Amino acid sequence: MNYLNTSDFCRAELEAFIAKAIDIKSGKSVEKPLAGKSVALVFFNPSLRTRASMQVGIYELGGNAVILEPGGTSWTLEHREGVVMDGNKTEHLAEFVRVLERYVSAIGVRTFAELKDWETERTDPILNAFAKYASVPIINLESAMHHPCQSMADMMTILEHLGRNTTGRECAPTKAKVLLTWAWHPKPLPMAVPNSFALAAAQFGHDLTIAHPQGYELDDELIAEIKQQASANGGSVAFTNDVETAYDGVEVVYAKSWGGKQFYGNNDADIAHRANLRDEWIVDEAKMARTADGIFMHCLPVRRNVIVTDGVIDSPNSVVIDEAENRLHTQKAILTELVR
Ligand code: CP
Repeated sequence: MNYLNTSDFCRAELEAFIAKAIDIKSGKSVEKPLAGKSVALVFFNPSLRTRASMQVGIYELGGNAVILEPGGTSWTLEHREGVVMDGNKTEHLAEFVRVLERYVSAIGVRTFAELKDWETERTDPILNAFAKYASVPIINLESAMHHPCQSMADMMTILEHLGRNTTGRECAPTKAKVLLTWAWHPKPLPMAVPNSFALAAAQFGHDLTIAHPQGYELDDELIAEIKQQASANGGSVAFTNDVETAYDGVEVVYAKSWGGKQFYGNNDADIAHRANLRDEWIVDEAKMARTADGIFMHCLPVRRNVIVTDGVIDSPNSVVIDEAENRLHTQKAILTELVR
């Protein structure tokens, strides 16, 4: 079983991951399911939280993490089929994966969008090539289109801070009014985090509003899936270009910048399109005052006073550090389920 996208799992399965993560965090679960096993973590891109939390989590579950950086400390990798490898790629994924799985029990992969070719990148070609060649579980540590480890930590954090059932331990997230808001950033960024957050929020039945300027619409197919999941799980989804009213009465503000899909391959056009959006699309104290005492969330890393003001991220309503901590617990829950 792979962990590529939360939509590969039903709500009950996702809730079980979070219930397990809560047990792990509370110290109730101290199992060592990875004893004597190794897990490879393949990083095509930089990371703090994902790398550290996976490495620590694997250790705490009794296992050993093998970190590989293609093009850095390991060979450059080709993923396309049938290519003549006379360029700068040294090894094909067909051999890389099949060799690696003789050593390890699972493979985690981080491979960002390059923001060059939307139609290709929206299909997650590198992640899916790993899944194609592997017989061990593949864990998505952020691909071009999804960051499902982040979104599980996000759902757990919402539950921790907004869970309304105060009688005993909570395993099922309660419904919240959630805003996913685009934020200005000096350069276009991948869409994996907003995609996965919106999808998971819909799967958990939250009432979700997605706010962004014109030109930053999410993928059409993904939007259809988010709507279907919201409807199936008792939630709702709304879209707005109004950055002020979007905050009215919400309990969760989730900020993230992303690039426009029509600008893939032309970063300068995206930067020009967003030139006048800087002051309007920052998360600040005035906007947070419109919420229902809402919590502030961001996956991190975040640019202070660009995406969010110091006053908001340093406020008691900011839960970004809890959110980052929960990466550890949710990933340990996922590893426990996947690695047998
Ligand atoms: N949120 C997140 O994935 O952080 P890193 O890029 O530091 O891993």
